[in-house]
Amino acid sequence: MYPRNSDDGVALGLENLCVGYGTKAVLSDLNLTVRNGSIVAFMGPNGTGKTTLLLTIAGMISPLSGSFRLSDPENMGFVLQDPQNQVVGNTVEEDIAFGLENRSFSRNTITRIIDENLERFSISQLRRSDPSTLSAGQLQLLALASACAMSPKLYLLDEPFSMIGRDYEARIVESVKKIRSDGATVIVTASRAFDVMWTDRVIGLKDRRMIFDGSPDEFSAHYEKLFGELCFSPEFFRLLRKC
Ligand SMILES: Nc1ncnc2c1ncn2[C@@H]1O[C@H](COP(=O)(O)OP(=O)(O)OP(=O)(O)O)[C@@H](O)[C@H]1O
Ligand SMILES: [Mg+2]
Repeated sequence: MYPRNSDDGVALGLENLCVGYGTKAVLSDLNLTVRNGSIVAFMGPNGTGKTTLLLTIAGMISPLSGSFRLSDPENMGFVLQDPQNQVVGNTVEEDIAFGLENRSFSRNTITRIIDENLERFSISQLRRSDPSTLSAGQLQLLALASACAMSPKLYLLDEPFSMIGRDYEARIVESVKKIRSDGATVIVTASRAFDVMWTDRVIGLKDRRMIFDGSPDEFSAHYEKLFGELCFSPEFFRLLRKC
C-alpha cells in the first residue's frame, strides 16, 4: 500500500489497481503517477470504466485489488457525469454555499467565496435562479463553481463536456485552466478524443486496460491505430469545424 500524505509532488498514484463491481473487473493493471498541478484526461469509449475509476479514487467504491494513493484524500472535489444529480440548493447561490456552511466560515467569508466563484464561472446573473431552470451547460458551470468554492487540491471531473453545447466548452476549458493555475490538480474523463486536446496528458483506456499515456498531440497522432476509427478523433473534429 502506498504511504499517505507524503509531500513528493504526487497528487495521485495508482499501483496495479483493478476496479469494478462484485467480482467483475472493469479496468485492470492500472499503474500511474499524476503530478501536482497537472490536467490529466482519461479517455475511453462508453462503458470503458471511466466513472468506475473516478468513484474508486473518490473512495465511493472499493478497489477489487491493487492500491491507490492520494496526497490529500480529504481535499477532493468530484463533479458527477450528470451535474443534475449533485444539485443541493434551491438557488444557485445556496448550492454554492452548501458545503461552505459546514466549514464554520463567517457569513462575510461565505458571501465572498460565492461572489468569487459566480464570477469565475461567469454565472453571476444566475445567482438567484432555481437550478432546475438551468441549461445543461449552466448546470455544469454551477457544479464546477460549487466544487471550486471548497478549494479542493484535486478535482475529479466526469465528462464535463458530455451534456453541453460548443459555446460552453471553451468557458469550461478556460475555467479549469484557471483552477489549475491556482495550484490544483485536475483529472477529467471523456469519451470523445477531441475533448481531451486541451489537457496536459492523455491516458487512453480500452478493453479493460490503459493502452496509451502521452501528450494530446501524440494521442491525436496514434488515435486511429489505437481505437480503429476516425469518428470522434481530433482529425475528424478538425474536418468538421472546417465545414
Ligand atoms: N453499479 C454497477 N454495478 C455493476 N456494473 C456496473 C455498475 N455501474 C457500471 N457498471 C458497468 O461497469 C462498466 C463500466 O461502466 P462506467 O460507467 O464506469 O463506464 P464509463 O466509461 O464511465 O461509461 P460512459 O462513457 O458511458 O460514462 C460498464 O460495463 C457498466 O455497465
Ligand atoms: Mg461515465
